[in-house]
Amino acid sequence: MVIPQHIQDKMYHPPDDLRRDAHVPNFNSYLSLYKKSLENPEAFWKEVAEEFFWEKPATGPMLQYNFDVTKGNIYVKCMEGAKTNMCYNVLDRNVKENNLAEKIAYYWEGNSPDHHMAITYSDLLKQVCRCANVLKEMGVKKGDRVAIYLPMIPELVYTMLACTRIGAVHSIVFAGFSSESLCERITDAQCSILVTADGVYRGEKLINLKQIADEALEKCRDKSSPAVTKCLVVKHHATTTKSGVACNKLQTPWDPECDVWWDEAMRDTPEDCEPEWLDAEDPLFILYTSGSTGKPKGVLHTVAGYMLYTSLTFKYVFDHHHDDVYWCTADIGWITGHSYITYGPLANGATSVIFEGIPVHPHAGRFWEIIEKYNVTKFYTAPTAIRLLMKYGKEPLLKYDLSSLRILGTVGEPINPEAWHWYHEVVGQGRCPVVDTFWQTETGGHVLTPLPAATPLKPGSATFPFFGVEPTILNEHGEELEGEAEGYLVFRRPWPGIMRTVYRNQERFENTYFKKFPGFYVTGDGCRRDKDGYYWITGRIDDMLNVSGHLMSTAEVEAALTEHAAVAEAAVVSRPHTVKGECLYCFVTLKDHREFNHSLAEELKGLVRERIGPIATPDFIQNAPALPKTRSGKIMRRVLRQIARNESDLGDLSTLADPKVVEVLFSQRCQATS
Ligand code: PRX
Repeated sequence: MVIPQHIQDKMYHPPDDLRRDAHVPNFNSYLSLYKKSLENPEAFWKEVAEEFFWEKPATGPMLQYNFDVTKGNIYVKCMEGAKTNMCYNVLDRNVKENNLAEKIAYYWEGNSPDHHMAITYSDLLKQVCRCANVLKEMGVKKGDRVAIYLPMIPELVYTMLACTRIGAVHSIVFAGFSSESLCERITDAQCSILVTADGVYRGEKLINLKQIADEALEKCRDKSSPAVTKCLVVKHHATTTKSGVACNKLQTPWDPECDVWWDEAMRDTPEDCEPEWLDAEDPLFILYTSGSTGKPKGVLHTVAGYMLYTSLTFKYVFDHHHDDVYWCTADIGWITGHSYITYGPLANGATSVIFEGIPVHPHAGRFWEIIEKYNVTKFYTAPTAIRLLMKYGKEPLLKYDLSSLRILGTVGEPINPEAWHWYHEVVGQGRCPVVDTFWQTETGGHVLTPLPAATPLKPGSATFPFFGVEPTILNEHGEELEGEAEGYLVFRRPWPGIMRTVYRNQERFENTYFKKFPGFYVTGDGCRRDKDGYYWITGRIDDMLNVSGHLMSTAEVEAALTEHAAVAEAAVVSRPHTVKGECLYCFVTLKDHREFNHSLAEELKGLVRERIGPIATPDFIQNAPALPKTRSGKIMRRVLRQIARNESDLGDLSTLADPKVVEVLFSQRCQATS
């Protein structure tokens, strides 16, 4: 691939000093490695596997698969016959073989700035082994499922790795989910143990986690699903201090038959525990992700392939080096935390920050304060966080020294150009490449992403495929589109880290991802390839709008709206229209002190018309003091669509961070300027 010089001149090129010691120092080395990964995947992945410890070598090839439903069951297998253990590879191997015993694995930073600790690789190994022994004592065996409902505290990592060590399958449920959602996940995965905490502060808000967990268990009993026999409870809230003063404000409901305090269970437990040697294709974990049909899907990942893939993507996408301090702000309850707080970084012997709190507590400079405190070199966050912090302007940043930063990353949604530029210029001070990583719970790791020293960047594009990944774009008829094109983003072959099935529902797995276009994994995302071969995610296909027979992406309209100086954030949904089929209904959150009025609405319409074309002219613009978001920061478009359609039954709102936002939007819906 050759990118014309005049285009190259307009791109963002990695700084020279980053290239000097980079794993992939330029675009040509990316291209040759990429070529090798597709032409000889066996040799490519074998070399990656050599870094790891295998109790027994593979007897089968690095990858075997069928992606074509018309030819039989869909399957992917990596390194059949091999035996290994992920926990051994991310901890024991680093402590014993790589001399990293005293290296910091995690800096843990609490919700409150005076609550923090550092954990070395050898500390981590000991805690994980003790927890593994506790789980075994509770009767957990290889293959059993353990539900984990914990906030962002070290015990979350201890527990997940303890499961991994003994071959139990963890199912982590984000600690912001409701009791109903927790129950649904425990029931589907048939978990026998639940690990939770007494409570947690999220910003100023105190959450009684144990009470929610108890409600979930009660609901599970009502559904007569196989019972959770033991609940292991971390005393976290009760140990939280504010300026050294303990602030235990919760009553922790307690059932002596079932509940066990973490500290008591761990007290006299041995610090060593033999790892269970697992088959390469044994389950590693289940993680639920929302499905278009409502019921969440238990995405299943397996040991060897996920290990190779998260390790390699972490190394290359963040260009990891031994002296880095890496910080991913995601919650471990989501795939980003699984792959890029726990498994990927630890597999590389990295030092990471784990942050329990939220970006604006106790002040709007909290992220920047943490970057300065730990000299963070690689920083990975979501566009929604960037947009939130943009609202506070540059002031909070100017108080801190961010000169340690070398690479910035984003994930989870398309990043609009305004947020990209702010991130690049204000946070990264123009010197840090922004790696816009596209991937999914299902993909296990990054699939479209720049490599920071190699890929010339275009703001808003996830650029090119990672090694071993072969994307293509299909039209509605399943025909492959060459060159410049827009359509369905699909993958032609697997990479080691792709999901293996939907837990206990192979049929749903095949129907969701493989049925529409036999021979391909269907992401559900729309995508555009530009004339230079860059991939641009245009948003979920289900969020595509069809106005007068023209397909357009909500993300595109949103990017146009947020270009306006008054707009902090925008979300666009469709509303049925008698003539056009669908029309655009836009919610806009304005920056501080900006007033919403008719003339601003007209200006915004003009801007969209100007950027995309008259076909994209919004019909409705509504002022949204805030947008309804899940606790992981995702906009709940379903709710916005319902508000736009004037539907009063808004369904389950339990995953919303702040359900009040919906009331406000709903009450103001009639004031929409059309
Ligand atoms: O629509 C894409 C969007 O997030 C979806 C996957 O969501 P989830 O499984 O929750 O995983 C999120 C973290 C990996 C995708 O189908 N998405 C994710 N990353 C990007 C993105 N959209 C655009 N650009 C991205 N970088």
